[in-house]
Amino acid sequence: MKKQLLYIFGAIVFLGVMSFTFQEDRWKAPEGAKDLKNPINASNKSASATKGAKIFKTRCMVCHGKQGKGDGVGGKALTPKPQNLTLSMVQSQSDGELFWKITNGRNDMIKWGPILSEEQRWDVVNYVRTFKTK
Ligand code: HEC
Repeated sequence: MKKQLLYIFGAIVFLGVMSFTFQEDRWKAPEGAKDLKNPINASNKSASATKGAKIFKTRCMVCHGKQGKGDGVGGKALTPKPQNLTLSMVQSQSDGELFWKITNGRNDMIKWGPILSEEQRWDVVNYVRTFKTK
């Protein structure tokens, strides 16, 4: 009986450490990124998102999937996996944070800064917003 308790205790400690490690690995944009202002105003958002959709299809879909769910064929073998962009974990971030991550990349997420213009990166941020589940 005592031994079983020890196993249970061990398992709890193990899970605790694992979830902590996982949280530590969450990709966080630096402080200043939050305040980067989306330069595209409300009346131009939908036109911008339409342009962003085209960019997404050619540049992002292969990894992040058609609906942004992280299930593109190109992402199957990657660790970590391309993020599911529909999750609140992503959608709760500010436009600036998403822009920063798209610009700078990490691991297999490409650093788009040198590839896409600033305007194109904002267009794609505006498109990623359309994945938000209502
Ligand atoms: C080669 C595959 C690949 C392509 C192409 C790609 N991504 Fe990613 N993306 C990833 C991976 C892998 C991650 C997770 C990186 C990590 O957590 O270290 C990621 C993460 C992200 C994140 C961060 C989500 C979070 O954790 O907050 C955003 C936003 C994103 N991608 C958007 C895009 C956009 C927009 C494009 C196209 C311009 C794109 N990605 C193209 C693989 C890709």
